[in-house]
Parts: sequence; structure tokens; C-alpha cells
Amino acid sequence: MSLNSEVSQWKFKNFLVNKNNSFNKKEILQILPSEDIDLAYKTISSWNGYLPTPLISLNKLNEKLKLNKIFYKDESKRFHLKSFKALGGAYAVEKIIIGNDKKVISTATAGNHGRSVAWGSQKNGLECKIFISEFVSESRAKVMRSFGADVIRVKGNYEHSLNECIQESNKNGWQIVQDVAWEDYKLVPKLTMAGYSVMMKEISEQIKNEKISHVILQAGVGGMAAAMIAGIARYLDYVPKIIIVEPDSAACVLESIKAGKIEKISIEKESIMGGMSCGEVSLVPWQILKDSVHFCVTVSDDYISKTVKNLANKYFSDEKIIGGECSTPGITSLVGLSNDNEIREKINLNKSSNVLLFGCEGDADEQLYQKLLAE
Ligand SMILES: Cc1ncc(COP(=O)(O)O)c(C=O)c1O
Repeated sequence: MSLNSEVSQWKFKNFLVNKNNSFNKKEILQILPSEDIDLAYKTISSWNGYLPTPLISLNKLNEKLKLNKIFYKDESKRFHLKSFKALGGAYAVEKIIIGNDKKVISTATAGNHGRSVAWGSQKNGLECKIFISEFVSESRAKVMRSFGADVIRVKGNYEHSLNECIQESNKNGWQIVQDVAWEDYKLVPKLTMAGYSVMMKEISEQIKNEKISHVILQAGVGGMAAAMIAGIARYLDYVPKIIIVEPDSAACVLESIKAGKIEKISIEKESIMGGMSCGEVSLVPWQILKDSVHFCVTVSDDYISKTVKNLANKYFSDEKIIGGECSTPGITSLVGLSNDNEIREKINLNKSSNVLLFGCEGDADEQLYQKLLAE
């Protein structure tokens, strides 16, 4: 089947308009202040090996969807860690140890955050303990060990691994560096978000005179999405339509937006997009997301391997792109939304639209990447 006939069949699962939308730049920058965003850029851009990741034009997909442009931020090239998470955990480690006598860093992770925390700990001469659930692949665990971390596997899902991490850390006096916030634990998640916002700084320069009309942001617990929104408030003088995409099996942001308050959902089946398979939006991101998101959309796992292959085989762009499972939902949701004429009109998606997508990770899980390519 040709690309054209194939993608014209793709569909999203659920779609929601946020009735409470009112983007308030001042309020957003009170939650993640400009000084924190600026300090993160200053620090991270001075790290060895720092280079902005490419902003690639998905010109071939664009032709099919009849939009003006599709920009794809390719985080497979983020340092040697292969995901945007490199910007968050490692930065939070570096900042939280200032004036802190704890010598052991701990975290719970679906993979990429742990890799970043392990790298940050190694760079700063600290020990690192990483808790993973039974759903995190051994190939991801191996990479974290290669950054010097002690990886501890916990029975159950992500939530179980986080509970175990908190318990053990409290018992042993370890410094938790988590990307999720809870009452009394907000500083570190804010630092990770400040780190992520470097992506928006780079995009604001790479985009030159173009204006982004729509941005699609993947959400797990919402940290990355909220950080990009803070970056929009900090670096752009206009507001694109902000769309959150989640796996349909873990739509905790959509359900919370619908309810107007944080809703915890139970995950019946873990999505292949492991980093986004989260049941509850995090506290700090929620404060930003609840008013600034325009639309939420969910997608199934059905198009993951096709999208991974289309990226690799240059069906979407002139160049080959290595995009892992969490890089796909921005593309699949955009295709699904574009295929629906009523939605196109509703969200103003047309031949003048410039859409920004995030390729959050490369082949961070090499085994899974090869499996998806071979499917
Ligand atoms: C690998 C990975 N983990 C996690 C997330 C979600 O980030 P957050 O939990 O901050 O919403 C993403 C977003 O796509 C991702 O690609």
C-alpha cells in the first residue's frame, strides 16, 4: 500500500475541547519562572557536547495532509542519550546537589528519565539507584547500568516502582530526583521541566520568521507538555493551538481536563509507548495544563510500528529519521485529525497551518525499535 492510501485510513480515538481554555502567560511564568527557564538554558548549553537538536521538515507527509509545514523536533540526537529526557533529570541532579550533603541519588523510571539521572549522577560523582517496574525492558536497564547506576527491578507497574523508590530513599537518606510532583515535592520536578524548556528555546530560534499555528505535545504525567507551554510563554509572542496527545489506554490529562480537576485513571493495558503510560497527571504540570491546553486527543497503539518505519524509510521527509515508540503519537494524531474534515475545521487545520511535533526519542530501547521496524 502506498503512503497516501495508507495514512488516509488513520484515525484518532478520542477528542476533547478544553472548555476552560484561557492562556495566561503571567500565571504560567509564575509556576515556571523565566529566571528558572533562562538558568536552565545557560547551564545546559554550556555542557560538553551540547548542540541544538535538528528541526526537520516532514515535507512529504505535509503534502499528503495539505498543510503549510510540519516541523519535527528530533530528540533522537539529544547528547548521546537519545531522548529529550537528557535535559531534565541530569539538570535536576546538578542543581539539587548544590549545598546538599546526600551522596546517593535515586529515582523511579520508565527508562529515559532514569538514563538522564544516571548520567547526571555519574557526571557529578554521585552514586545512583534506579527503580524500574516489570514493564521496563532489560535493554533499557542495561543502558542505565552502563551509566553507572544500580538498577532495581520491582514487581508491578510504574507506581509500584515509585513507591518502592520513596520508601527506600527515606529509609537510607537518598536524594530522590523524580520527574513527578506531589505535595511537598515540587522543586525537583520544576527543575526537570526547566531543563526540558531548552527545546522551546532552540525551536524559537530554528523557526526563524515562521509562525507555529498548532503544537502537538505528548503527555505521560504532563511534565514535558507543561514545560513546552512555559517555553511558549517565555519565547514566543503569540499562542499556537495547544493539543495534548496520549495513548487511549492512559488518557489521564484528557480525563482531568474533562473533569476540571486531576482524575486518576486505572490503566487496564500498558501502551507500547511506555514513557506515556501514566495514570495520573503530575501536580505542577497540571497547574499549567488545565487552562492553557486547547484540545486533547488520544491514539491507539495500532500505528506505532508503521510510523517508526515510515520515519526510517524517508516516507515522511527527505531524510531518514530514527524515531522510537514515543515519537510516533504526534504524527499519528496529526494524521487522524487531518483526515477528519469536521475536526479540521473545528481546530482550524488547513493549508496555512504550520504544525510543530516532537520526536521525543530515538531508538532509546534498541530491541523494541528493531522489533517495531521488523513488524
Ligand atoms: C520517552 C518518554 N517518556 C515520557 C514522556 C512523557 O513525558 P511526561 O511524563 O513529562 O509527560 C514522553 C513524551 O513523549 C516520552 O517520549
